[in-house]
Amino acid sequence: MALFVQLTILALFVTLSYGNLEVSITPDVNELLIKGESAQVLKCSSSESGTLTWSYPKVNGVSSDHLEKTISENGQRRSIFEITNFTVPGEMHCEINTDGGNTYTDTIKLILVEERKVEPTYQYGNKSAILSCSIAWSESKPLSIEKVTWMRGDKAVSALPESGRFQTDSSNSLVIDDPKRGDIGLYTAVMKVKGVQTPYKCEVSFKEEKLDLNFSKSNATYVEKMEYAALSCTTNIGLEIKNVEWLKNDTHISKLENPDRFKVNPENYTLSIDSPKREDAGLYIARFTFEGLPEPHDCQVKFKCPPYVMDFTKSKNLIEKDKMELQCRVLGFPKAVVTWLKDDVPLNVSLDERIELHTLDGYKNARLVIKNIEFSDEGEYACHAFSSSFNQSDTKTITVRVKDKLAALWPFLGIVCEVIILCTIIFIYEKRRNKRAEQEENKAQEADGPSMEKKDGLRHRGNSGNPGA
Ligand SMILES: *[C@@H]1O[C@H](CO)[C@@H](O)[C@H](O)[C@H]1NC(C)=O
Ligand SMILES: *[C@@H]1O[C@H](CO)[C@@H](O)[C@H](O)[C@H]1NC(C)=O
Ligand SMILES: *[C@@H]1O[C@H](CO)[C@@H](O)[C@H](O)[C@H]1NC(C)=O
Ligand SMILES: *[C@@H]1O[C@H](CO)[C@@H](O)[C@H](O)[C@H]1NC(C)=O
Ligand SMILES: *[C@@H]1O[C@H](CO)[C@@H](O)[C@H](O)[C@H]1NC(C)=O
Ligand SMILES: *[C@@H]1O[C@H](CO)[C@@H](O)[C@H](O)[C@H]1NC(C)=O
Ligand SMILES: *[C@@H]1O[C@H](CO)[C@@H](O)[C@H](O)[C@H]1NC(C)=O
Ligand SMILES: *[C@@H]1O[C@H](CO)[C@@H](O)[C@H](O)[C@H]1NC(C)=O
Repeated sequence: MALFVQLTILALFVTLSYGNLEVSITPDVNELLIKGESAQVLKCSSSESGTLTWSYPKVNGVSSDHLEKTISENGQRRSIFEITNFTVPGEMHCEINTDGGNTYTDTIKLILVEERKVEPTYQYGNKSAILSCSIAWSESKPLSIEKVTWMRGDKAVSALPESGRFQTDSSNSLVIDDPKRGDIGLYTAVMKVKGVQTPYKCEVSFKEEKLDLNFSKSNATYVEKMEYAALSCTTNIGLEIKNVEWLKNDTHISKLENPDRFKVNPENYTLSIDSPKREDAGLYIARFTFEGLPEPHDCQVKFKCPPYVMDFTKSKNLIEKDKMELQCRVLGFPKAVVTWLKDDVPLNVSLDERIELHTLDGYKNARLVIKNIEFSDEGEYACHAFSSSFNQSDTKTITVRVKDKLAALWPFLGIVCEVIILCTIIFIYEKRRNKRAEQEENKAQEADGPSMEKKDGLRHRGNSGNPGA
């Protein structure tokens, strides 16, 4: 009997205390610590059908920024309250007015937390690094932290392989002894606050170092007939250098043309280039690998060379309506700016659509094309390369001659004409000579006609007479 009464009372108590089950807020806690200006999703659900409403704290009519929406899920009504910018702490109520006319409420208290963090930056050679997070809250009663557990990912630091290097000091800061680059990352201080069910999580990062290697570089410039060029890059950061590799345009020096000319001093990693050519000028990279740093660090070193325009092969003879193409080959580093002049006047491309400028070997405008060439295009063309870094320029010229389309035909026509004239002269002369000869012969015949016959007669006679004589 006593047991029955006890059970009944218990049942009654259970029914009373869990009467609010008609409506409930998740997360299912009475108090929640939220960092200022952060986001939080609250869900309110009810098994009864009815109208769900939220009432939330406001200060001077302003609440935290939020979105509210009601959805139906598995036959249950749910209202979602999504805080996007938490600024106003206080009690949140979710209430349902059931179709049966009852009202049920669930409550959650949101406490605003302010974090004060110390997020160190990794520096090679430091003896220790200290990470810390302290919090203050919006409650009037003092905040009391019972326990802080430092985590890295989902592991407590005490469970990390080198847990001996990780310690928590009296102010709950995490002290990393002899920090290594691998320690860089995100840590979480899981803080158990007295009187609050769920611990507060504060994320603290051990930041990546911004290495200022402060390289000091050589200042190599090409001069004609120089014996060697020395390129160097040094850093005073005090890191132990494991290795230095030299590259030019992403190509290791051992893969460049005539790699024997490139030598690296094993003492100070200076690169020397024997009998350098203008073509060797450019941007070189000394790729440093340091002890304790997995990634290499590049130091860019310039090997400069004043602008130099290579000679044009010879003058150009073109025929009207041809296409003219002039290629200006330029050497030097940094790259010069190429412009063209015709008879000492800058060429204006925009004035004539027959003229086009193209890029050659990475030099803008270094290829000049004139389509449908005219006599007026004849002249002296100059390629001008100016380097602002040297305040120096180089120019080479080429003479362009334009000929008539029939130009090639003229000599031939000339020869033909000459031949015709000669033939005519010869013909006329021959004709005249023949005529004169004929006339003379006729005259002679007229004058010496009988004697000729006599002679003939004599000869005949003599001939016929001789054998008989
Ligand atoms: C959050 O709200 C505060 C106060 O209303 C405002 O100053 C801040 O700009 C808001 N932050 C964002 C990210 O909207
Ligand atoms: C780390 O070392 C640098 C110099 O190596 C020093 O300036 C800096 O204060 C050190 N930082 C810490 C937290 O010990
Ligand atoms: C960089 O190096 C130069 C000389 O090598 C030195 O004068 C300067 O103070 C250094 N800067 C830093 C930030 O270490
Ligand atoms: C490098 O050379 C330029 C000119 O050739 C000069 O003005 C500059 O001072 C030099 N720099 C160094 C560090 O020697
Ligand atoms: C640099 O390398 C790129 C690609 O590897 C190549 O196209 C380019 O011509 C090279 N430049 C020089 C100046 O060698
Ligand atoms: C590197 O060493 C060579 C030979 O010992 C020396 O001539 C050169 O000046 C050094 N370069 C630098 C940048 O210290
Ligand atoms: C080229 O001609 C155009 C049109 O007449 C003019 O606006 C432009 O300034 C000229 N450019 C040069 C470099 O002379
Ligand atoms: C460049 O050189 C010219 C003379 O060749 C000179 O008048 C001019 O001042 C120089 N410019 C600079 C920036 O040095």
